[in-house]
Amino acid sequence: MAQALKKLTAQVLKSNNVEVITNNFIRANSTWWSNVEMGPPDVILGISEAFKRDTDPKKVNLGVGAYRDDEGKPFVLPSVRKAEEILHAAHLNHEYAPISGEAEYTDAVAKLAFGEDSQVLKDKTNCTVQTLSGTGALRLGLEFVSKHYNKTKEIWVPTPTWGNHPQICNMLNLPCKKYRYFDPKTNGFDLQGALDDISKIPEQSIILLHACAHNPTGVDPKLDDWKQLSEVIKKKKLLPFFDMAYQGFATGSVDNDAAAVRLFVKEGHQVMLAQSFAKNMGLYGERAGALTFLCGDAESAAKMMSQVKIMVRTMYSNPPLHGARLVKTILTTPELKTQWLSDVKQMADRIISMRSRLRNGIEGAGNKRSWQHITDQIGMFCFTGLKPDQVERLTKEFHIYLTKDGRISVAGISSKNVDYVADAMHKVSS
Ligand code: LMR
Repeated sequence: MAQALKKLTAQVLKSNNVEVITNNFIRANSTWWSNVEMGPPDVILGISEAFKRDTDPKKVNLGVGAYRDDEGKPFVLPSVRKAEEILHAAHLNHEYAPISGEAEYTDAVAKLAFGEDSQVLKDKTNCTVQTLSGTGALRLGLEFVSKHYNKTKEIWVPTPTWGNHPQICNMLNLPCKKYRYFDPKTNGFDLQGALDDISKIPEQSIILLHACAHNPTGVDPKLDDWKQLSEVIKKKKLLPFFDMAYQGFATGSVDNDAAAVRLFVKEGHQVMLAQSFAKNMGLYGERAGALTFLCGDAESAAKMMSQVKIMVRTMYSNPPLHGARLVKTILTTPELKTQWLSDVKQMADRIISMRSRLRNGIEGAGNKRSWQHITDQIGMFCFTGLKPDQVERLTKEFHIYLTKDGRISVAGISSKNVDYVADAMHKVSS
């Protein structure tokens, strides 16, 4: 830039046609952003973009974790439809929401996570704010860590983890470290590896835990494993940050899926919690989520709230209304809540049945490998164990889209495409 300016000045001095030269200069330096390099497409959402460009009628998108019905169509939950009608009839206005979201919303979502009778909620030691879905909660939580946490700012994530976790840390310059989680030999949870690694994490670091339906592996610790994890985490004085994006999707029961979070709270951990209603209410684009800090006492919770509000105000001022109104209506209207719990179960059950059909299809084709993990794993995803070249063949030859690590969203499988997907998986893996 300095050189270009020098050249311009020289030209201007020599010439009397200043306007032409200036225009040339502006054209040649038409962007202030010439230092910015092309970034890679998102590892998950980039796959949806590639899928959209594919014109083959057989194409299947198993990339993004978004629930589809058995016709392969996006699913609007019956409970959500009813809540929409209620909101429509209420002729609500569009005034700003409070910075932290409507209190009725934050109370309802905190109860859903911590339990109706939770002592921390009775004592008001929680600081809960509405966020832009789960990602917004993680980002706000880690942004808060980066500004206000005066201990060890290392964020420890499981191997593997959702691709956006390390990305958010990187964006905030927070060191992101890994602890063992998935054992490829058993396709299960590596309890010993996790305990060993966690016991070496520097004290007062932050440990990120998937509350249920681990993404991408579909492998969750058992309750007894969680107890052991809780112990070592307490011993190392780590701050547990739970990401609960799939409450209800693992077992079909929202209470069972909150068991790890509730156990940690019972054991005295002051957890952080990110919640999302993208999956369990199908409100993907409505961006309804929440971030909670448990603070030990009500006074500290109030102080935290004051600082979180300042942070929110400077980022997006206040959260969107519609998705949160739907969530609140469902959680606070008993008939709707009952309907919703059965909607969640219906989604979870369809996924479970697709797991069996997929496994049977691959095994039925005579494939010699073990595919038991397809039915052992839970939640929306199956970590197939397919290698990158096999993944590439699935996409290139069969127009089946999935992430490079071999993860498939079982929610994208339906009665219509399950045989096709099973056959293709058999062919690329035998
Ligand atoms: C996924 O992992 O596919 C979902 O959580 C969607 C996303 O935003 O990545």
